[in-house]
Amino acid sequence: MVAVGRAPALLASMLALAALTLLLLTSYESFPGAEMLRGPFPTPSHDSKRPSSHHHACTTSLAPLRDVFASRWGIPLQTSLVRAGTGARVRRAMERLWKERKITVGILGGSITYGHGLQPEDKRYSQLIEEGLRVAFPDAEIVVKNGAVPATGTDYFSACYKHHVPEDADLFILEGAVNDLMVEANTEGSIHQDVITDTETLVRELLKGGAAVMMLSTWGMTNGYMNGADHHATVAEYYDVPRISTRAALYQYIQAHHDAAAEIFVPGDMGHYNPHGHRFMADAILDHLLEQAFDGHPAFEKIVWHNKHYWAAEEIGARITFTDVEVHGGFLGLYYLRSVSMGLGNLRCWVDGNEGASKLLVGQWGYVSVGSVGAVATGLAPGKHNVTCEVDQTTQAIPNEEAEGSLHKTRIIAVIAS
Ligand SMILES: *[C@@H]1O[C@H](CO)[C@@H](O)[C@H](O)[C@H]1NC(C)=O
Repeated sequence: MVAVGRAPALLASMLALAALTLLLLTSYESFPGAEMLRGPFPTPSHDSKRPSSHHHACTTSLAPLRDVFASRWGIPLQTSLVRAGTGARVRRAMERLWKERKITVGILGGSITYGHGLQPEDKRYSQLIEEGLRVAFPDAEIVVKNGAVPATGTDYFSACYKHHVPEDADLFILEGAVNDLMVEANTEGSIHQDVITDTETLVRELLKGGAAVMMLSTWGMTNGYMNGADHHATVAEYYDVPRISTRAALYQYIQAHHDAAAEIFVPGDMGHYNPHGHRFMADAILDHLLEQAFDGHPAFEKIVWHNKHYWAAEEIGARITFTDVEVHGGFLGLYYLRSVSMGLGNLRCWVDGNEGASKLLVGQWGYVSVGSVGAVATGLAPGKHNVTCEVDQTTQAIPNEEAEGSLHKTRIIAVIAS
């Protein structure tokens, strides 16, 4: 393991913190309540109930996976998805899996991801994700690299991730919320440690290469309700990164169910997950991945271009829906970019699923590049309405040197209702 691009002093401080973290993680073993929490593992028969046939078909909904999860855990699976965002990048990675039949997933994390406390033959959540993807895409080339390094936090990975996962992975999963709490809590004036900055550095670096990023915010019982995820959430929100939190789902569950901790954590250890806990993490991640895979339409992305904010797409069939738009005077439309020179395509938009009554909003016109109102519907009943737009197969764009790339580029600025 070699730190690149960081001063030796910082490396030394990171190693010191890593040692401290290791010490703290080791001290879980002697947690006073541990004896009471020892218990038999749940029987693996849970897993044999898992229906897999719906994955093979790749056509039906995810309802079976969610039903099994809910009956296995008594928790709605969605509880763990604390931030879905647009899901745009994950959907793009899953689209590539659909079309090109291959995906590389890199997982970065600490001892939870490593599988501390598990037997060698027990499956880590990384392996369960790999298996789940293989069932869904049996003919695809699926690589899931578990790049965990026990007793490390995001500070380490922000400098050294390339040593642990393929840097050109399509999807990265970041787990580090338990260790990052300790990094933050043990920061002193003399040592620069800032979890938000380190997380931002890492996430920006990963996104820059075009990959999708997801966060798995893990939580252990040793710090009450707290973990380092609040710091991660700041970055997740800024970069539209989906975040799954085991705490959001498990904390209430453990409060409500006597002995529940023994179902989730390694016996005698309140911070590391047992095989059942790894199954939980894998199911929560797979649910999000497969939902994006089966959504079927390419996505719009939020972009900032010359200080202007747009929802942007350039692939025919890309869709976006704005839900629950308040309409008072019956009008619903879009404020979208039109241009003489940019090579803008056309949007087809409709309201409340009424695709038969769609309107075409043309991007090309004989004027400068500027926002313009396009009406989608008039005479709507007052109340909340949904408007959906799709990049149409038609385009009036005129090829020229300014019109780089697709002639189906579309840029939505705002939804307009009155
Ligand atoms: C708008 O979409 C939401 C979310 O899909 C749905 O619950 C709601 O019923 C829709 N509203 C209308 C008016 O179709």
